[in-house]
Formats: sequence, structure tokens, C-alpha cells
Amino acid sequence: VWEGAAAAETAARASLRPEVFDWIACGSGDELTVAANTSAWHDLRLRPHVLRDVTNVDISCSLLGTVLPMPIAIAPTSRHDLCDPEGEIATARGAAAAGALFAVATGSERTLQEISTAAAGAPRWFQVYMARDRGWTRERVQEAVEVGCSAVVLTADVPVVSRRRSTGAGFVDAGRVRIELDPSVGLDAIAWLGSISGLPVVVKGLLRADDAERCVAAGAAGLIVSNHGGRQLDGAVATARALPAVVAAVGQAAEVYVDGGVRRGTDVLKALALGAKSIFLGRPVLWGLAAGGAPGVEAVLRGFAEELELAMRLAGCTSLRELDSDLLAVV
Ligand code: FNR
Repeated sequence: VWEGAAAAETAARASLRPEVFDWIACGSGDELTVAANTSAWHDLRLRPHVLRDVTNVDISCSLLGTVLPMPIAIAPTSRHDLCDPEGEIATARGAAAAGALFAVATGSERTLQEISTAAAGAPRWFQVYMARDRGWTRERVQEAVEVGCSAVVLTADVPVVSRRRSTGAGFVDAGRVRIELDPSVGLDAIAWLGSISGLPVVVKGLLRADDAERCVAAGAAGLIVSNHGGRQLDGAVATARALPAVVAAVGQAAEVYVDGGVRRGTDVLKALALGAKSIFLGRPVLWGLAAGGAPGVEAVLRGFAEELELAMRLAGCTSLRELDSDLLAVV
């Protein structure tokens, strides 16, 4: 029985080494942004419709042309081996069982080939960091193309790694591979990644409308409004607050997604009402993985999907097309 993301977090805490749990939970600096991400979703209030037929609810969506059963995807996070001995292989199985999109991180412990085999036909994107050694990044991206990833996700909010309360026993987001991040990366990286992969490029980690416009002009097909789960610039605006301006700036020119502090189906509903095409889950997936392996990941994804369906029924909505900012109260 799904009891919510908070229960999954409690279960994960019980099964993980304290330093690993802490490494996952932590943010940068004073963790202002970690706290702001969740509270910003809470602060939004819904204006439900009543007396509408909500017998059948459809939460399927299409992301960059791929039809998915739910607008709930797995954000790229590294080192899944710290949560489960099978690492990303277990995550891939859980994602495939739920039919959810899995954005695989550069810092994965298992190889892309292994992860792709485990995901068996389920949609995958590949998250990339720009290394000083462009040849290295090119090889990773080419590997992603070969194993069937359908988009490249450029993480833009890590020109350098921030200072975090917990670096655990020296775990870094880069994981197994030591990446020498290139702080000089600019907008031209978007076109470069597109040209070497032939895939759509999604930019992850922006919070401003002007950056969104620049990224789309530079060739981005999608944008993930994100502050890295509060792990980079502490004090950065909550993603729920940054999302509307990005959606307004981009219009139909690119797809906009969001992550950060999404912990309930009602948060997903609010994100979609603000114009996101999908949300991504970071920590909740790791909690599911830690507590229950591949079935634990599947349970988290299905749990969020169930909560979203319930929230939609209670809000009088039956399809994602009906969701817009009219559903939100000005508070
Ligand atoms: C991350 N995140 C991340 N992002 C990325 O682009 N590449 C990465 O390797 C990682 N690694 C990573 C590890 C861990 C332990 C966490 C918690 C996060 C950020 C991630 O993709 C996402 O933006 C946030 O996790 C979303 O916020 P929530 O859902 O965790 O609140």
C-alpha cells in the first residue's frame, strides 16, 4: 500500500547507512532552497471544479514525441549503487515496469549498456556534464545514442560543484567517473550536443525566463526548471516560483518540465497547472530504491501516478489538457 513519499523516505532512512541517507537528503549551504522547493508547492492552492464526470481520468502524456503513461519521470541522480547493490539496473527495471521515463546520469555506477538492457525498451534520456575533455563527453554521448537514449540532458547548473553539508564519505554527484567539469561551458554546447548525437537536447537547471529564451534560441528542445534539488546555489528561487515565467517566455517553442521538492500527486497537479509537461523526481526515487529495490522504484512511480489521478478527480479534471493556471488560486 502506497503511503506517500514521506513514508518512503522513512523506510529509506531505516535501510541506508546514515551517511548515505544524509548525502541524498542534503542541499548546499544552509539548505534554504531545499526547504523552499517543498514549501513553494505547499503554498499554492487549488480551485477545484465540481459536478463534472470524472469516471475516467487519463494522465498519459507525450514528451518530445514519446507517449508515456504518466507525466512523472526519473530525474538524473548518480550512484544508485549506494541505495541498492544492483544500482541503476534496479532503477531501470522499476522504471520500465511503471513505463516511466528514466533520465540516466553521467555519474551512474553501472554502464549505459547494462542500464539500457535492464530497461528493456522503456524510454531513456541521458544526462551529460561537459568535461574539460570534450572527447570524453563526446564518447559518453555517442554511447547513449548507440544504446537507444532518445534525448540528451545538459545539466547547466553545475559550472562548479557547490559546498554541501554532507559530502558523505566523499561521494560526489559525478559518481564512479571523476569528471573534470568545465566552468567555461556556454550556450554553444547545446548545438554541439545536438550535432554529435542527432538527438533533441534538454537543458536542465535553469530558473530564469531570459536564460530559457537563450537556450531555446540556441537549439534546446526542452527545458527542466530546476535548482538541482537545492544542491547548487543556496538561496536560489524555488522551482514552483520560477516555472511560470519560463513557461510564459518559451510558449510553444520548447517543452518545459520541472523538478525539486515534488512529493505528492497534488504537487504534480500544481506543476502541470503552471504549464510543465512533466515533473521529475530525484530523491523519492532513491528512497524507493533503497527501501525496496526495483519494485520499490515502481511503487514510488505508481504511487505518484495514483495520487495524481486522485487529485485530478477531486479537482474535476479528466485529462492533462484541461490543466492550466485557472486551477490555481492567487494567495
Ligand atoms: C542529484 N541531481 C543530479 N542532477 C544531475 O543533473 N546530475 C546528477 O548526477 C545529479 N545527481 C544527484 C544526486 C543526488 C543524490 C540528488 C538528490 C540529486 C539533481 C536531480 O536531478 C534533481 O534535480 C533533484 O534531485 C530534484 O529535486 P528532488 O526531487 O530531489 O527534490
